[in-house]
Amino acid sequence: MKPSPASERSLRLAPDGVSVLILDQTLLPHAVKTVRLRTLDQAAHAIRTMQVRGSNLIGVTAAYGLALALRVDPSDRGLDSAYAVLIETRPTAVNLRWALDLMREHLRGIPVARRIEAAYAKAAELLEDDVATNRAIGDHGLEIFRKLLAKRPPGEPLRVLTHCNAGRIATLDWGTATAPIYRAQQEGLPIHVWVSETRPRNQGAALTAWELGGRQVPHTLIADNAAGHLMQHGLVDVVIVGADRVTAQGDVANKIGTYLKALAAREHGIPFYVAFVGGSVDWNLLDGVRDIPIEQRSAREVTHITGMTAAGKRVEVRLAPEGTIARNDGFDVTPAKFITGLITERGVCRASAAGLARLFGRAAAQRR
Ligand code: MRU
Repeated sequence: MKPSPASERSLRLAPDGVSVLILDQTLLPHAVKTVRLRTLDQAAHAIRTMQVRGSNLIGVTAAYGLALALRVDPSDRGLDSAYAVLIETRPTAVNLRWALDLMREHLRGIPVARRIEAAYAKAAELLEDDVATNRAIGDHGLEIFRKLLAKRPPGEPLRVLTHCNAGRIATLDWGTATAPIYRAQQEGLPIHVWVSETRPRNQGAALTAWELGGRQVPHTLIADNAAGHLMQHGLVDVVIVGADRVTAQGDVANKIGTYLKALAAREHGIPFYVAFVGGSVDWNLLDGVRDIPIEQRSAREVTHITGMTAAGKRVEVRLAPEGTIARNDGFDVTPAKFITGLITERGVCRASAAGLARLFGRAAAQRR
């Protein structure tokens, strides 16, 4: 499997060379609709409302959001005020800040008259880098999968469990957690994926199942609560998830429910891997449980659910009694001690300060 053609990327520049085309992920899997972003506000809205989501894609969308903003005002003031709008869109995925910082630092060194062009070029570079880094994650993860597969009876598939969507559409291509899965498929290795539904927004059921189905990757959807049971019964060989923020000591924030899976995996001796790109590391933080900001989302996502009727109409229905108070933390933190290894574009390391510093260099690790 080659990376998808540029026309199939989860975000691409429109043929007009100005506006940006995204897939509206709030409508999946019921409708595949492309949306055109023409302004900073539209880019910010797309991130905020989760038309685009997933740490890597959020970062690249923000980069293009800055480019769109500079078309209106390329001055330092314009740059700073667009940065301020975009940085507020989602709090947990640090790739947002990473991409915005890279863009702003680069653009400040460019004369105002050439900034728009430079912003588009830099955003395109981030997009292509994301494809390449995810592909590299796929290669490193593939080696892990090969070793685990060697322990399975001949011909039996490797049974992989993933949570949320750290897939092609959470990135620009390949995905992070899904990259080794796609590489395994490409190499003809037998593989089966347990897709956990990921309440309350159901990114597993709506997005990962859609994405794997589209690529003919064998998979089975499970309720979030089923993962521990499957592990207990020897039906899971490896867990692999993505990340929204990784601290310098290897603690990982990812979609709510990830931590419980890590605990169950530890209890049952199942390897638990986290796949992410360097832009997901927050070198300023050590203790993820204490310091990673966790997005608080609308209670309505817990009390209600959206789906499609037999007649093909998208509807939202209430699950809980009217007036029920609900709490909706969007992410949780898995401490490094529960993680078997971190899979990055630079290779695989232990979830520790030393492991990350070995891959990314002391300079990055000392940025604090
Ligand atoms: O709230 P979301 O859908 O943006 O959360 C996405 C996740 O938690 C992913 O697992 C994570 O961003 C990794 S995607 C490369």
